[in-house]
Amino acid sequence: MKIDGIAYRSVWIDTEDGWSLRVFDQTRLPWATEILRLTTRDEVARAIATMQVRGAPLIGAVAAYGLALALRADSSTEALERDAEILARTRPTAVNLRWAIERMLTRLRNTAPPERVAAAYLEAGLICDEDVAQNEAIGRHGLELIEQAAAGRATPGRTARASRTTRPDRVNVLTHCNAGWIATVDWGTALAPIYMAHDRGLDVHVWVDETRPRNQGAALTAWELGRHGVPHTVIPDNAGGHLMQHGEVDLVIVGTDRVTRSGDVANKIGTYLKALAAADNNVPFWVALPSTTIDWRMRDGLREIEIEQRDPGEVTRMTGRTDDGSITTVQITPDHSEAANPAFDVTPARLVTGLITERGRCDANEAGLASLFPERA
Ligand code: MRU
Repeated sequence: MKIDGIAYRSVWIDTEDGWSLRVFDQTRLPWATEILRLTTRDEVARAIATMQVRGAPLIGAVAAYGLALALRADSSTEALERDAEILARTRPTAVNLRWAIERMLTRLRNTAPPERVAAAYLEAGLICDEDVAQNEAIGRHGLELIEQAAAGRATPGRTARASRTTRPDRVNVLTHCNAGWIATVDWGTALAPIYMAHDRGLDVHVWVDETRPRNQGAALTAWELGRHGVPHTVIPDNAGGHLMQHGEVDLVIVGTDRVTRSGDVANKIGTYLKALAAADNNVPFWVALPSTTIDWRMRDGLREIEIEQRDPGEVTRMTGRTDDGSITTVQITPDHSEAANPAFDVTPARLVTGLITERGRCDANEAGLASLFPERA
C-alpha cells in the first residue's frame, strides 16, 4: 500500500543496511510514521510482545525473519531450536506465528549450518510473498460480497435495510480491530475486499470499531482507510448492535487469529458480541483469513484456543496525542480498581455466515473447509 505516494509492505529487508529488518512501529500510529530497524532475535521478540508489530499474518512473517537474524549470531542446531521456541512464545493466540516458525524449522533443519542464514532469509521472503498473494485473492473473493450487497441496495423497492444516516445506495461494512495491510504483509484480510471495492468505484463505507483497549480500529484501521481515501466512521465498540438494529450495516467482515477445522473463530476481544448482534439482526458476518490462520489440529475453539491475557495496564491507561502534538498516556480508571485484559474471544462457527479464504468462500464448518482444502480433510 502507498504512504505519501511510495509503495510499502509492512515488513521488508534493508539490504543496504546490513540486511536488517524494517517494520512500522504500530504503537506510534496514527500520530507518527516511524520505521523500526531490527537486527537481533531479542529486538524482534520484543517488537512482537509489545505489539509494535501485530496482526496474525504479520507476526508470523516478522518472526520468520527474526529467526534469520538469530541465525546470524549462531547457526547451530541447538541455537536454531532454542531461538525458534523463544520467538514462537512471544504471543499465544495467533496460529500464524507458530505456523511460520514450524515452516522455517522444517526448511532449516534440512540445511547445513553454514547455509542456514541465507536459507532463512529466502524462506522468510517466500512466506511474505505468499501472504501478499493470498490476501490479494481474499480481496477478490470478498469483493464479490460487496458487489452483491451493492446490487441488492440498487434493487428497486428494496427498503428493508434502507439506511437512515448514510446514503441509501452505499454499502456499509462494519469491521473490528485491524485486519488491514499493516496487520499482514500487504493488502490485509478483512480490508482487502474493501480496498478493491473502493478502487473499482463502488460506494463503500466502513464502520470502524474503536477496539478497546488498544484501539487498533480507531488508530490503525482508520489510519489505513484514510490514507487510501475509503470513507469510514469510527464508532465506540458498543455501537455496532445499535447500528445493525437500524439497518446501517450491510455486512460485517473481520479478520482472525486462529480458525479451528470446525470453523470456530478466535479474533480480537469483542468480535463475539458483534457476531451475536449480527445474528440477531440477520446481518451477514464474514471472516477473512489466509489458510495459514487455520489450525487443523483443533476442533473446539472455546476449549482449545489459548486466549492471551495481556497487561491490565492496557485497560487502565490510554494513549493519544495532545493538542501540542506530543504522544501521551493517561490513566482513565481510579487508582485502586482492578482490571482484566483478555485480548481475544472465540466466536462459535454457528454465528459465522462464512469464511473468505484465498481459495474462495466456504461455510464455517468442517465440510466447508474440506471443500476448499481437500488435502487437509
Ligand atoms: O492483538 P492484535 O492487534 O495482534 O490482534 C489482531 C487481530 O485480532 C486481527 O483481527 C487478526 O490478527 C487478523 S489480522 C489480518
